[in-house]
Amino acid sequence: MAIAPAQARPAYNDTVVRGFALASVVYGIVGMLVGVIIAAQLAWPELNFGIPFLSYGRLRPLHTNAVIFAFGGSVLFATSYHVVQRTCQATLFLPKLAMFTFLGWNLVIVLAVITLPLGMTSGKEYAELEWPIDLLIAVVWVAYAIVFFGTIGTRKVRHIYVANWFFGAFIIAVALLHIVNSAEIPVSLTKSYSAYAGVQDAMVQWWYGHNAVGFFLTAGFLGIMYYYIPKQAERPVYSYRLSIVHFWALIFTYMWAGPHHLHYTALPDWAQSIGMMFSLVLLAPSWGGMINGIMTLSGAWHKLRDDPILKFLIVSLSFYGMSTFEGPMMSIKTVNALSHYTDWTVGHVHSGALGWVGLVSIGALYFLIPRMWGRKAMYSTRAVELHFWVATIGIVLYIAAMWIAGVMQGLMWRAVNPDGTLVYSFVESVKATYPFYVIRVLGGLLYLSGMLIMGWNTVMTIRSGKAQPAAIPGGMATA
Ligand code: HEM
Ligand code: HEM
Repeated sequence: MAIAPAQARPAYNDTVVRGFALASVVYGIVGMLVGVIIAAQLAWPELNFGIPFLSYGRLRPLHTNAVIFAFGGSVLFATSYHVVQRTCQATLFLPKLAMFTFLGWNLVIVLAVITLPLGMTSGKEYAELEWPIDLLIAVVWVAYAIVFFGTIGTRKVRHIYVANWFFGAFIIAVALLHIVNSAEIPVSLTKSYSAYAGVQDAMVQWWYGHNAVGFFLTAGFLGIMYYYIPKQAERPVYSYRLSIVHFWALIFTYMWAGPHHLHYTALPDWAQSIGMMFSLVLLAPSWGGMINGIMTLSGAWHKLRDDPILKFLIVSLSFYGMSTFEGPMMSIKTVNALSHYTDWTVGHVHSGALGWVGLVSIGALYFLIPRMWGRKAMYSTRAVELHFWVATIGIVLYIAAMWIAGVMQGLMWRAVNPDGTLVYSFVESVKATYPFYVIRVLGGLLYLSGMLIMGWNTVMTIRSGKAQPAAIPGGMATA
């Protein structure tokens, strides 16, 4: 890839990158705190104190929205705006519109924090926000697409680096998913009903839900992987050719796998089988990408020993590989007959969410934050190392507890006596799960304390040291 000479580099606009980077840390802490609270409520239900807006049913969507869209979304905005400028050697297209995306996305989050605890919800998982907020999301997202693709359109290098392909696919797919799945008929300012009915509604919802995983929680973060791992390892991508195959195979396959969420439902059996087949195929591009990321470290493995940022980035890929092996297995109908409705699903979700999305985000933020504030490194590298270990132990406790609990629940529910009666009542399975819920609280607390360490380290990094040397008034920087 031809890179313009250093002196010809344009001034980059990093104001919005800085804003989203800080927002990521704050929303990460808040979203995971709510996660720990609901995990504790499952172990000790009286922790809702009888207050409706602290009830589990209202806090759970607050958790999922906060961690996926507020934390994950802010990480994706920050990194995509950072990466697209550097790899295109161009400043952000329409900086005021970029600032609008920052303000608009934060407004969406504030509205979510108000409406979800009040119980206002469309009832669709990961798409709970009511119609006026849906409209705002659509407007912000279109603005995001204009800024991102506009920057690509004004690039100074011919080649479009692979990370931008992943970010671009994520932006287009999320616009499509959001607009189709949120088609709804308003009955008041705070209530609407889906435009679809019955099994069609379920299929649209899980086409959306699975691709929210595929594009929001995966494609965008693969864009992060393709830029920040080579940068931090100071090595080129292991195989650029593989990265292109990875891109096309992944985005084509993900779109068809949604029906695996609807096994043994009213959805026609052939549609369920198609979902299962595509999920099994999905193992190949997922692992192709993981191998490409990990092998980028070829010849530089020793760096893993004392670079905690690389540890975050590379271990995130191990969890990506693990959850994308587990997902296809769970999509096999007979396996799903055991795993569905159990905590195994929740374990799978968090090996992807905490292990892959969480760790790769944290690694990228540790790369980004010192650079965005003109520092050489984070204030305390030992705190980064401590964060890595606390988070990793937290994930292992969380997911191991949920796997054991999930398989146990599935086996207890299907156990029958010779006369055909059930061996266990449902409440017995709940009682048997209790110790695992307590272990999950412990794992969650560890993961959250890692985020608090990050919060402290971020504040200290920004406060310490000199101002960014190449800063130009108005948030422009050449670094
Ligand atoms: C301290 C960290 C976290 C804790 C303690 C935690 C805890 C929880 C709990 C207790 C649930 C409800 C499970 C149930 O209903 O049975 C949940 C659901 C969920 N969480 Fe987390 N979480 C954490 C971090 C995250 C992160 C970082 C993400 C995403 C990036 C995430 C994504 C989700 C999703 C998607 C669900 C819904 C799962 C499903 O419907 O199967 N969580 N979490
Ligand atoms: C090859 C890739 C993957 C496949 C084929 C796959 C497959 C599956 C399957 C079969 C389920 C259970 C559906 C059910 O019984 O209801 C599931 C649930 C889920 N997976 Fe994955 N998975 C993959 C990767 C991931 C990754 C990387 C993440 C997170 C970053 C993730 C997040 C989720 C979430 C959030 C759910 C729960 C949805 C819900 O019920 O609310 N998956 N996945």
